[in-house]
Amino acid sequence: MELPFCESYKIKMIEQLNRSTREERIEWIKVAKYNLFKLTSDQVFIDLLTDSGTGAMSDRQWAAIMTGDESYAGARSFFELKNRITQLMSFEYVLPTHQGRAAENVLFSVLMKEGMVVPGNSHFDTTKGHIEFRRAKAIDCTIDEACDTSLNHPFKGNIDLEKLEKVYKEYPREMIPCCIVTVTCNTSGGQPVSIENLKAVYELSHKYGIPVLFDSARFAENAYFIKLREPAYKEWTIKQIVREMYKYADMATMSSKKDGLVNIGGFIATNNEEIYRKACTFNIMFEGYVTYGGMAGRDMAALAVGLDESTEFDYLETRIKQVEYLGNKLIEYGIPIQYPIGGHAIFVDATKFLPNVPKEQFIAQTLGIELYIEGGIRGVEIGTILADRDPETRQNRYPKLELLRLAIPRRVYTNNHMDYIAAALKNVYDRRFEINKGYEIVWEAPIMRHFTVELKKVV
Ligand code: F0G
Repeated sequence: MELPFCESYKIKMIEQLNRSTREERIEWIKVAKYNLFKLTSDQVFIDLLTDSGTGAMSDRQWAAIMTGDESYAGARSFFELKNRITQLMSFEYVLPTHQGRAAENVLFSVLMKEGMVVPGNSHFDTTKGHIEFRRAKAIDCTIDEACDTSLNHPFKGNIDLEKLEKVYKEYPREMIPCCIVTVTCNTSGGQPVSIENLKAVYELSHKYGIPVLFDSARFAENAYFIKLREPAYKEWTIKQIVREMYKYADMATMSSKKDGLVNIGGFIATNNEEIYRKACTFNIMFEGYVTYGGMAGRDMAALAVGLDESTEFDYLETRIKQVEYLGNKLIEYGIPIQYPIGGHAIFVDATKFLPNVPKEQFIAQTLGIELYIEGGIRGVEIGTILADRDPETRQNRYPKLELLRLAIPRRVYTNNHMDYIAAALKNVYDRRFEINKGYEIVWEAPIMRHFTVELKKVV
């Protein structure tokens, strides 16, 4: 008999989960004003709100925590981290920050000013936020295939070179501070970018004198997909693929809360001394001195180990096969999800799932609430509430896709939890035609409303 796949680690420490009844959950979500962010974590049984900062550290990482060096300047833990990044990504200059958006804040303070344009594959919300905060504009150059959830394409995170060159021809060089490539592309569903595309983007950008920045949050998951899907790299180790990927980047920002396998942290890395020097000043102002930048020494030490572990094939195989396992179960049940299955999350197509809920009543949010009531599972709406209002007309913006994202934390849940999630979603799916009313907003903040919005049931 062929031996089945199983996890490449065992469990040393456990954390109790709180079970609850449907009646309790109906009451709790009402008190939370039907906003999943407002639930307390002990009201949640399985938490799929995000894969960011929610992973479990290894025994090696916990050991590193104990040996962390808390010196203000020149901490040994900083050099452990810096050396690991240099080894993996071949960058000489490293600045730690407290998380990914802080890296964006520091680096974009150096690179961007009003009126600039920043092309890339779909920019993540905070990346776009930091661009727009500086009155610059993000231009999405992702391939068109990414918008069709049912289409199978191995690298839906790829950049369309024609769209990119159009931007380079339309705007003067000095108005384009960089091209941002997000690996994997969160916004298009955790979809990878191929080496072929990274190389072509780099060559095209350099032809026009424009540097390339990798938003690296899930860089290791991207490397795993390259190994599986890009034939030339089939025999390469993940670490070799990562090094190859970063040949085509001039700088990187990182949210270490994902593929760093830690609960908090980020960094900037580059070989450009001038950019590094300028960024140092902003880092000192916003984050902390250049050898800790908002991170504790122990956290840098754990991150140095985390980056080593996340670039091992066995870890990545366990991780991504779990996401795939859940996705395949949902497909088996006929539930509409974004295809192919991405690296860190399943994206449920809420419009196809709940055909009777009008879009004005927040379809993906309605599905998120139903799933919570059904099984105590918390996902996150990637739909109209998140898309917010148009800043000028103040009308709701209706995005192309209404999605419920189920992000899977790293090394946290077992496949029995995946079975439970799939069954709960199937139960909601079986009664989908009875769900024909959604929610209306009773209070919202003027910006980033999804975190604090208050809703009530449409009756
Ligand atoms: N870039 C990408 C691609 C991200 O997914 C995130 C965060 C960031 C940057 C910002 O990093 O949170 O450390 O400040 N994504 C989380 C998510 C929040 O749930 O997808 P951060």
